[in-house]
Amino acid sequence: MVGTQQLSELFFASSNEHKFQESERILSKLGIQINLFKTTLEEIQSNNLNDIAEKKAINAHDLIQKPVIIEDDGLFIDSLNGFPGPYSSYVYDTIGNKGIMNLLENSQIRDAKFVAIIAYCDDDYGVKLFESSIPGKISSIIEKGGWGHDPIFIPDGESKTYANVSDKDKFSHRAASLTKFSSWFLDMQKDNGQ
Ligand code: IMP
Repeated sequence: MVGTQQLSELFFASSNEHKFQESERILSKLGIQINLFKTTLEEIQSNNLNDIAEKKAINAHDLIQKPVIIEDDGLFIDSLNGFPGPYSSYVYDTIGNKGIMNLLENSQIRDAKFVAIIAYCDDDYGVKLFESSIPGKISSIIEKGGWGHDPIFIPDGESKTYANVSDKDKFSHRAASLTKFSSWFLDMQKDNGQ
């Protein structure tokens, strides 16, 4: 049995409104409401997405002092030995999707995966991590639409990138991790009589 905190009041800490909007849409269908805690979190330098996510969740919880989730993602490209992985955000802000296409210019092998880690943190459970990855390919052209790496990532089984698939939430890395999180969170709430 956990303490007295209101587990039903859950925050999603991020500076990225796209992530929040998608997460809100996905979680509300699973019966969980979230509120945006708009903030820029400290991001440690590490080759390990789990470590980055864990520290971000602790930082978010220190700031808001309420049950909170954060998300950390990475695009791992096989022929680049997993690059940019944990550095995806920096690579996006510097060389962008065009730079990634240039790196793959002579490569026939375009396999990649998008990884999402949802990290939950509260006073009673500390940090809990939920990880999923979605296999796919880097497209041969940069499609229009979407945000971030959406215009260049084609999930397996689809012919279009995330930017133009009909229902990204059905198979996105975010949806997969949030689904894992939701089943743990709803069970935990039930156990605590909420
Ligand atoms: P972050 O470090 O968790 O912010 O994510 C790493 C990079 O992946 C950032 O540039 C994000 O914008 C990008 N990213 C994460 N999820 C998605 C997505 O669903 N679509 C497109 N880009 C994404």
